[in-house]
Amino acid sequence: MAWSTNQVALRVHALGVDFSGVRALEDVSFSVPAGGVSAVIGPNGAGKTTLFNCISGVARHDGTVELEGCDLTHLRADRRAALGIARTFQTPLLIPDLTAIDNVLLGAHPQLRGGLLGSIFRPPAVRSDERLMRARASELLARLGLPRADVPVDSLPHGDRRRVEVVRALLPEPRLLLLDEPAAGLGADEASELLGEVEAFAAAVGTTCVLVEHDVGLVMRVSRHVVVLDAGRLLLAGSPAEVAADPRVIAAYLGDDWSEVKT
Ligand SMILES: Nc1ncnc2c1ncn2[C@@H]1O[C@H](COP(=O)(O)OP(=O)(O)OP(=O)(O)O)[C@@H](O)[C@H]1O
Ligand SMILES: [Mg+2]
Repeated sequence: MAWSTNQVALRVHALGVDFSGVRALEDVSFSVPAGGVSAVIGPNGAGKTTLFNCISGVARHDGTVELEGCDLTHLRADRRAALGIARTFQTPLLIPDLTAIDNVLLGAHPQLRGGLLGSIFRPPAVRSDERLMRARASELLARLGLPRADVPVDSLPHGDRRRVEVVRALLPEPRLLLLDEPAAGLGADEASELLGEVEAFAAAVGTTCVLVEHDVGLVMRVSRHVVVLDAGRLLLAGSPAEVAADPRVIAAYLGDDWSEVKT
């Protein structure tokens, strides 16, 4: 689905999270434009993963979360997922003994949720859907830099496990995809290629991506909108150019190296 330029995919308002006295998020409000890639940046402990946990419904929070104008605040994580929110985790959550492709298919295809072995008892039309999905998964794994889909994921390096998780989240074409450091463990060129492919696939199927990434140069190149968190609070949300020009961002996060990553 194509997005018009002024549509909003995600809106959060007054988000707050308390971990037994530690205020991980405090009064965080912003919106994310529909389509393309946006990013959340901030130093370690700023609350980026906690923010994703709120949006996906894994963390209890104050405030509200809206997806395309629909209030999700009181919905559990599984309902939010059913409405189109997918995510990856900072540490990939995969089944180690299964191959890359089976990990992808278990997450990606609702008809496979009864178990892969169960698929032999399904009618031929469903099996043919599964073959199509398997072919698509394999193609997307290859596009995202993982040509060997038939190896157990515990034999893969950490960066490749992240690719598997990204494909698993992307393949069902969610409305909103939250990627928590998908390029961690990859070199700069690999990270850039991975995000380029994610961006292209997301644009083709109408998914809005929100990315947590520490490489600020990369963030500025791929993002249309950047949210900056610092110590649990929103510092700024705006275009890469607005973020790049803001003295508070430079002071709190970017420091003296900022001139090297400015786009
Ligand atoms: N389950 C938890 N229990 C207690 N405190 C937590 C928990 N999860 C996160 N925190 C605290 O909340 C704050 C925000 O953590 P969070 O993991 O969201 O930061 P982050 O921006 O994702 O950091 P990083 O860049 O290191 O991944 C930190 O002070 C962290 O120690
Ligand atoms: Mg984190």
